[in-house]
Amino acid sequence: MPNELLIRGGTLVTATDTMAGDLLIRDGKIVEIGSGFEPSSRTIDATGKIVLPGGIDTHVHLSHPIDALGIKTADNFHTGTVAAACGGTTTIIDFALQRPGDSLAQTRQRRLSEVDSEAVIDYGLHTIVTDVRDETIAEVGPSVHEGFPSFKLMMTYAGKRLDDAALLKVMEAAAANGGICYLHCENDAAVTHLVRRHLDRGETGPYYHAKSRPASVEAEATHRAICLAELVGAPICIAHVTNSGAANVIANAREKGLPVVSETCPQYLTLTEEVFDLAHGFEAAKFVCSPPMRQQSHKDHLWKTLRSGEIQQVASDHAPFRFSDQKTLGRDNFTRIPNGLPGIETRLPLLFTSGVKADRIDLSRFVELVSTNPAKIFGMYPEKGSLDIGTDADIIVIEPEREVTINHEMLHSAMDYSPYEGMCVSGFPTWTISGGEIIVEGGDPQVQRGRGKLVRRSRINPDALP
Ligand code: URP
Ligand code: ZN
Ligand code: ZN
Repeated sequence: MPNELLIRGGTLVTATDTMAGDLLIRDGKIVEIGSGFEPSSRTIDATGKIVLPGGIDTHVHLSHPIDALGIKTADNFHTGTVAAACGGTTTIIDFALQRPGDSLAQTRQRRLSEVDSEAVIDYGLHTIVTDVRDETIAEVGPSVHEGFPSFKLMMTYAGKRLDDAALLKVMEAAAANGGICYLHCENDAAVTHLVRRHLDRGETGPYYHAKSRPASVEAEATHRAICLAELVGAPICIAHVTNSGAANVIANAREKGLPVVSETCPQYLTLTEEVFDLAHGFEAAKFVCSPPMRQQSHKDHLWKTLRSGEIQQVASDHAPFRFSDQKTLGRDNFTRIPNGLPGIETRLPLLFTSGVKADRIDLSRFVELVSTNPAKIFGMYPEKGSLDIGTDADIIVIEPEREVTINHEMLHSAMDYSPYEGMCVSGFPTWTISGGEIIVEGGDPQVQRGRGKLVRRSRINPDALP
């Protein structure tokens, strides 16, 4: 008996089409789409439900070290990928952080040894380049060739930040070899200046974290990143866009025909700067992330860019730090509050609820933002991010009317809070299927540790970016 799974009677939705249909999976691949299929040995009745390509989250930080604080993000590759699967994500791309003196190959090898036996869904790695030597640049081509075509470049963060000269070198090498650079854009000198100002005044609470990273700091760096990329003809993806200044710079670049794509995250689409209000005291540390959440007008603008196509993907930037013993490291000094929010499990439900259910985007655009475009931008399409015949059977089935109230205890992340506590959402998957295997059913993960596979990704064609 071949290893088959039939998903029968659902509404199939891709980035381009919506149709009623049955979908037959064999040996981990989609083999047939049609109607009236005979029940298989395993059949999912998807009547009244929607069937989508699994989510792809290209921005997650699992077991991510913060050396200055001697801690790691709260989720490892097991808890983090179980949480991802329960939230409808079937592929993640995490990061391998280059240590000074290390080669890019060593950097990834070390990271892969942490992931391989843990991940329950498929995964890739972006290489965070921090030590730009001639030898590092010489490794950019081989990295792409081995299936790691994306390079994360930080314009801020001590120990990881690259100056403009280094950015140019990596971008140029990536462009010449079919790679793409993924940028964290904030003006480091401006942040450092503003941080100093607040600390000198004795302003040490989490409210001042947001005050030291205003929108202009991000917009300036975004503009500079695009200018540098244009000089060397490099395709780039701007990470976690939060505001209209940065979004407009990106829109202008795209209008000029530059290969610039970008992402925003659910926190910037559903929360505002009010979370940092002084009245919340140190509780506001739960929301400390970089760049921070902005005013309502920026949030409204981001929704417009998702509709217009100016921003192409929504990733989580899952960087979970427990409140009880990790966020509290910065109780007396906001610069010691680890930066980041959990979000790997709530990304799809939040975008489904505040986007599709609220009539801001349609279902196909939802699929494009959370799955198809991430696959295209980072070299995995159409094997991932589509429902095409012959591609990986990474699929989710959602009951659009099933509502869930978020609290951290029902989530699978190893966290002691959720930024979305108490929000009522729909869009959690009833089934998550990875490589043809049901790994979540009715919200319950049934999954073997380490079953996820490394995805070796293709070269990036700048002309094929969404
Ligand atoms: O505050 C954030 N976003 N932390 C995660 C690391 C990053 O900057 O993406
Ligand atoms: Zn970042
Ligand atoms: Zn991040």
